[in-house]
Amino acid sequence: MSSLVIEKAEIGTPRHRDAVSSPTLLAAENLSRSFVYRRGSLLRREARFRAVDDVSLTLREGETLGIVGESGCGKSTLGRLLSGLARPDAGSATFADLSLSSLSGQAWRASRRDIQVIFQDTAGSLDPRLPIEEQVREPLDLHAIGTPESRVQAAQEMLDAVRLGRHMWGSVPGELSGGQQQRVVIARALILKPRLLVCDEPVAALDVSIQAQIISILQDMRSRLGLSMIFISHDLGIVRHIADHVAIMYLGQIVESGPSETVFSDPAHPYTRALISAVPVPDPKRRRQRRLLSGDPPSPHTPPPGCRFHTRCPLKVERCTSEEPRLTLQGAHGVACHFAEVAP
Ligand SMILES: Nc1ncnc2c1ncn2[C@@H]1O[C@H](COP(=O)(O)OP(=O)(O)OP(=O)(O)O)[C@@H](O)[C@H]1O
Ligand SMILES: [Mg+2]
Repeated sequence: MSSLVIEKAEIGTPRHRDAVSSPTLLAAENLSRSFVYRRGSLLRREARFRAVDDVSLTLREGETLGIVGESGCGKSTLGRLLSGLARPDAGSATFADLSLSSLSGQAWRASRRDIQVIFQDTAGSLDPRLPIEEQVREPLDLHAIGTPESRVQAAQEMLDAVRLGRHMWGSVPGELSGGQQQRVVIARALILKPRLLVCDEPVAALDVSIQAQIISILQDMRSRLGLSMIFISHDLGIVRHIADHVAIMYLGQIVESGPSETVFSDPAHPYTRALISAVPVPDPKRRRQRRLLSGDPPSPHTPPPGCRFHTRCPLKVERCTSEEPRLTLQGAHGVACHFAEVAP
């Protein structure tokens, strides 16, 4: 697992909000989404599995929620459900009091303005033939917002805000670096002034120094626009820095959630502890004991019975192999482990 250790001075101070003060913007209740997979030696038989399984969470106005977990645990699928790009099989996601799965027509288009998504794959998000100034302006043109002159001005201001120099405005994406392309994607996503920005691994494909620049731009835009954000990543260093709250996913479920400060300084789930202990610490004197995870995660197609983490858990007892722990809240901190309180 790669990890970026960002020095606070490099990209500003992380902002941890008073979670109780702002109204709820997005609420997910018991969200599940299943997919078909092929099984059997000839891969002819089809079966279903739950990529996201019974996930509930809340995002408050102006807050950033980090979603963390290993590859294949369901982060992107959850991100798509939370942004209304995919429909759940069960459960609901409510954005500003509107149920995302029942929106249609004009309400659906309005929600598209309010919720923007940034994917890891910048190449797929940009038109290879269109100069970047036009790409950033395009959403305003499509929604016929303002006058043609005001749209040009807004696009240029947004390009300035994401620190793309005037000399690049006429370039097509192929003439830009990966980090510059990602800045175009951010500008295009934010030109409509959405209320929620869902970022799915927005920096994973970039060089470490460029990652810090992009995170800094996202933080800057967040405070300028008062954005709420969902930040999906497998990188705990970045999530700790940018997120007010964090949800740790394992095989389609949230196993721990809470304010970032609490989860990172006092993790209660053995999976979270193992993930955190694997993040490199720059100061050798503060080197912490590493708790290595044994083995790869089991296939999400056939999750283990009982606690899904029991096959890799150092605390496992008989009960864990048969009884599924529920996410239990203590204040804002939720943990799904039979031993969350007594674990060393
Ligand atoms: N459209 C689909 N059809 C079938 N299976 C899918 C589909 N999309 C995702 N999956 C499966 O669902 C599981 C979760 O996938 P998802 O992309 O949400 O994981 P992820 O946590 O984002 O992984 P990564 O960190 O590698 O991006 C995986 O087993 C994946 O193969
Ligand atoms: Mg993903």
